[in-house]
Amino acid sequence: MPPDRSANPVSHSRCKMTEIVLPNDTNGLGNMMGGRLLHLMDKCAAISAQRHAHRVCVTAAVDNVEFQSAIQEGEVVVIESHVNRAFHTSMEVELNVWAENPLEETERKCNRAFYTYVALDDEGAPVPVPDVQPETTKEQERYEAAAKRRDIRLVLAGRQGLDEASSLKEDMLTALQRSTDLPG
Ligand SMILES: CC(C)(COP(=O)(O)OP(=O)(O)OC[C@H]1O[C@@H](n2cnc3c(N)ncnc32)[C@H](O)[C@@H]1OP(=O)(O)O)[C@@H](O)C(=O)NCCC(=O)NCCS
Repeated sequence: MPPDRSANPVSHSRCKMTEIVLPNDTNGLGNMMGGRLLHLMDKCAAISAQRHAHRVCVTAAVDNVEFQSAIQEGEVVVIESHVNRAFHTSMEVELNVWAENPLEETERKCNRAFYTYVALDDEGAPVPVPDVQPETTKEQERYEAAAKRRDIRLVLAGRQGLDEASSLKEDMLTALQRSTDLPG
């Protein structure tokens, strides 16, 4: 039986993966292929989800993958992930990716993404997961932003109507208010 906890700190789900980029991982330009990077990111995020949920977890959605900077052969990819927030059976995992050049001792941020995982029970059905307990201001900000991202992704996936997106309502009302408050 998985441990029975009502909430885990973000640190409980942290995962860091480090991998060198070899010729087999690259395209004709000598840059790491996007699909190869997404595969590593999915593995890292799955470890975070399973550390949090103590269950087998599957990827339900991948969004906001930004390829900001190409990673070259010989560089070291560093991927860090953690669970920002758990909902009922699903969790948002945030991933950040850096490229490290060990010869030049440099490092640059390359990617950021949000993956959604669902925890499954022994029969393969979605099962509730513990909450996340944010402990720092940054973690609290990410926790709150995760609810808004969840509403956006469920609306885009056609799983939720815009009228049900409660976390977005306040923002929309504020934006509307600002637009009507503009000096004439
Ligand atoms: C993900 C999966 C378990 C959801 O099953 P389902 O029958 O739709 O289950 P539910 O409607 O009860 O949804 C379960 C959770 O998934 C979330 N979910 C489902 N689709 C989602 C999507 N596109 N984006 C975000 N969350 C999603 C729901 O919001 C719900 O979260 P909550 O319990 O926290 O509110 C199912 O679609 C599945 O097994 N997909 C294949 C997963 C897979 O093979 N991944 C790749 C390999 S790991």
